[in-house]
Amino acid sequence: MRQNGHEYVLIIDFGGQYNQLIARRVRECNVYCEVVPYKKVDIKMVKELHPEGIIFTGGPQSVYGEGAPSVDKEIFGLGIPVLGICYGSQLMAHILGGKVQTCTTSEYGKTETLYDKECLLFGGELPEKAISWMSHTDFIAEIPEGFKITAHTANCPVAGMANAEKKLYAVQFHPEVNHTEHGLDMLDSFLKKVCGCKGDWTMESYAETAIRDIRERVGSGKVLLALSGGVDSSVLAALLSKAVGNQLTCIFVDHGFMRKNEGDEVEAAFADRDVNFVRVNAKDRFMAKLNGVSDPETKRKLIGEEFIRVFEAEAKKIGKVDFLAQGTIYPDVIESGSGDAAVIKSHHNVGGLPDYVDFKEIIEPLRMLFKDETRRLGQELGLPDMLVWRQPFPGPGLAIRIMGEITDEKLTILQDADWIFREEIAKAGLDRSIGQYFAVLTNNRSVGVMGDFRTYDYTLALRAVTTTDFMTADFARIPYEVLEVCSARIVNEVKNINRVVYDVTTKPPATIEWE
Ligand code: XMP
Repeated sequence: MRQNGHEYVLIIDFGGQYNQLIARRVRECNVYCEVVPYKKVDIKMVKELHPEGIIFTGGPQSVYGEGAPSVDKEIFGLGIPVLGICYGSQLMAHILGGKVQTCTTSEYGKTETLYDKECLLFGGELPEKAISWMSHTDFIAEIPEGFKITAHTANCPVAGMANAEKKLYAVQFHPEVNHTEHGLDMLDSFLKKVCGCKGDWTMESYAETAIRDIRERVGSGKVLLALSGGVDSSVLAALLSKAVGNQLTCIFVDHGFMRKNEGDEVEAAFADRDVNFVRVNAKDRFMAKLNGVSDPETKRKLIGEEFIRVFEAEAKKIGKVDFLAQGTIYPDVIESGSGDAAVIKSHHNVGGLPDYVDFKEIIEPLRMLFKDETRRLGQELGLPDMLVWRQPFPGPGLAIRIMGEITDEKLTILQDADWIFREEIAKAGLDRSIGQYFAVLTNNRSVGVMGDFRTYDYTLALRAVTTTDFMTADFARIPYEVLEVCSARIVNEVKNINRVVYDVTTKPPATIEWE
């Protein structure tokens, strides 16, 4: 759907692994776009929508394969610019009368590519020769009539083709991937020079229209939000408070397992906003539930259940609400995989909430935004950096970063050590490049020596990972000098820790969290 008259690019998903990345790149060029599975696209819809441009994603299949994903040929005759990427490029060639074949040598990875500077995608400052990212086993062997070859590599005679008159462009490589040099410029050229987009998608304009839409939808109704202090729910709270002020109630259940000072920081961030902010200090309840429990799954389950109970009791005090707001964002919405008409994942931060609260409708004002856009919106709405740039934090909090039984003493040790680690990472300027970093209090004690005394204290583990999707992760290559300072400060400043280790495992086989 068009967003209030904004320029719109339709991304037709053929099941490529980079479908979300293409959309993120298009939005980086300030053009609004949506990813729609090919099975949900028909020519009538395209005509009605009349997007400024269409992009075909890659996909795992061969165009000659049985039931291979396809589109109506008419799509190429609507005068709407089309860019085919990888499988999308082969599909364009195939439908328009070219030939696709299987490569004798598959191309995979960084590949030297030669570009035709006359092609609008590769003109201007871009070099004639650069690296592109290839990942294919089929290739275009013959281009359709009216097309011109615009790029090639040693093994791929058609790394790019175009019919400029009909505004049809295709690239075998992946311009959306960082490894493709100038890939973003190529996408930008397609959007601006071929599609004629100006780039009218900014978070400033989004905030304005979203606030207007929310007001219209909510009217004088009451809105309830479970605020976790994470990026999505915080940005949502800020947006809703601007839109409907104190018709909004945010319930922030502080289970006591937040990082040092974090509960207060979250509260402070909303202190001056026009919103009913309820902080429930429920640490004692949670600690009582977890007394003597050391099994990770039991901890998680007990915390989840108690969370719902606390939330429910608080929500009941408000009475009937009209809307339950949820911080669903676009990656949760985009159907994954082959573009089959799969169910849209209904994501909520706290499982099962809607069943426990009496409300009429759900509102999800962030559902068309990517994470980086959500952060930009948060900045636009004046949220502090500490919330906007907050790293992911598990629902059960530090309870699953304390191995074994949780005690007040262990909680304080971990909060203090984690604080030092975070401070040093920020000082080293690594806080935005490392996906997630935190301390874990192991249940292991070992012998050490401090001054003239023998110690027998806890081992603290530091965990830091780089990742794009948190499904897989690598351990962050933190400079030894930074680790050295962290270790020295932690053993000196935090009581009961006499040993610090750094976790150098990838995911898989390990997970990011320890429990
Ligand atoms: P793992 O440990 O499975 O974590 O590699 C992947 C990502 O998910 C986060 N995580 C959670 N997030 N509730 C959440 O909202 C949870 O219960 C939870 N457990 C893990 C974890 O921090 C990492 O970013």
